Amino acid sequence: MDKIRIHGGRALSGSIKVSGSKNSALPILAATLLTKDPCTIRRVPDLSDTNYMLQILKHLGAEVERASGTVTIAAAKIDSIAPYDVVRRMRASVCVLGPLLGRCKEATVSMPGGCVIGDRPIDLHLKGFEALGAAVRVEGGNIKIFAPKLKGAVIDLKGKFGPTVLGTDNVIMAAALADGTTVIDDAAQEPEVVDLANFLNKMGAKIEGAGTRRIIIEGVKELHGTEHDIIPDRIEAGTFLVAGAICGKGVTIKRAEPSHLTAVIDALQNCGYRIAVEDKSVSVSPNGAAKPLNIATECYPGFPTDMQAQMCALLSTTRGSSSITENIFPQRYMHVAEMKRMGAHMELEGATARIEGVDQLLGAPVMASDLRASAALVLAGLKAEGITEVSRVYHIDRGYEHLDEKLSELGAEIERVKA
Ligand code: EPU
Repeated sequence: MDKIRIHGGRALSGSIKVSGSKNSALPILAATLLTKDPCTIRRVPDLSDTNYMLQILKHLGAEVERASGTVTIAAAKIDSIAPYDVVRRMRASVCVLGPLLGRCKEATVSMPGGCVIGDRPIDLHLKGFEALGAAVRVEGGNIKIFAPKLKGAVIDLKGKFGPTVLGTDNVIMAAALADGTTVIDDAAQEPEVVDLANFLNKMGAKIEGAGTRRIIIEGVKELHGTEHDIIPDRIEAGTFLVAGAICGKGVTIKRAEPSHLTAVIDALQNCGYRIAVEDKSVSVSPNGAAKPLNIATECYPGFPTDMQAQMCALLSTTRGSSSITENIFPQRYMHVAEMKRMGAHMELEGATARIEGVDQLLGAPVMASDLRASAALVLAGLKAEGITEVSRVYHIDRGYEHLDEKLSELGAEIERVKA
């Protein structure tokens, strides 16, 4: 298994370009199943997660062509069964359920397993499908959904930890081809949901309100092929902004969408960093001593859970007492034990990490456990004295396109060590 080796302490400067959003690309690729016509999607990041999704689409019968970041998918004829072997590697494969149900009026997809960031139920997705008139059964580890007819309904998708992103996506995709009007209350407002709705509207769907808590979908008889550009990845952009903050002289993130980064920008400004925003770029630079911060993750537009681990890395070397409370995935703290091995002072109290900033982290061999935790360990390694080796790099490859190369461009001493 590959490792990433970082010689810490190098100051970062310069600029990098953000890739297309993983979490937009996954449901949008799945949504191409809703039409027989070809769809062309641009700015699809080259990640193991997007590649898994393309494999699933091929397994279901779609023809897939990929030329760099542009993917053309033609799902003229599809099967509605996605078995365990095909979907087990990625939890987000659950987002084929909505399009299969919409198009085929039935779907059998292996139930996603546990996940290192905590319990990840799909009860809200299933509640939405049932409200549209589908019968749902879990049998032999598979979810079987069947609906002779889908009928618009009023559905509240709020769960114990707030709205659900992929649940909202799934219900929108199924409802796009239902009879009548569907209203989703307490819908997720994330930019990735808006990107999906924009894509579906280009395919001929009638969706209003994406980006607000109430989404209204007027079902149509069929959808047609279209072209679409995936939005910039706000979590990748945020991760590079934190990299710039943690050891930068001045770092600029280009091809970004600054309006999607407000919570991360606010957090960095509250820590004392200087931020400059232009049309499609954001720059971060030091501005005297950084300040500690108390912050909590929230659904969009709040501070994203997908940036919590990276923020832990930053605050671990910011003098003073900081805290981060994780409200979306309360157990998403696998990085804490590894950062402590690098000399960080942090303790967990329930879903809150209490952090006492240290002057210096020390490089160490550390183990990546999930995507964002791995990114956080790389950030900690950039700051640490000496050498940090992050193993299990496949977690990083799930969600960051060429992370090591982009950090090298900024001046980091980082290399991928092939196993
Ligand atoms: N939840 C339920 N029931 C459900 C669905 C979710 O209780 O049926 C709970 C979850 O357990 C969690 C909360 O609701 O406590 C929010 O989960 P959500 O459904 O919004 O997560 P998701 O849609 O499965 C997406 C991203 C995650 C990101 C979350 C939250 C994709 C492919 N994944 O997951 O991204 O953390 O939204 O913003 O879009 C990542 O990129 O590293 C990542 C994990």
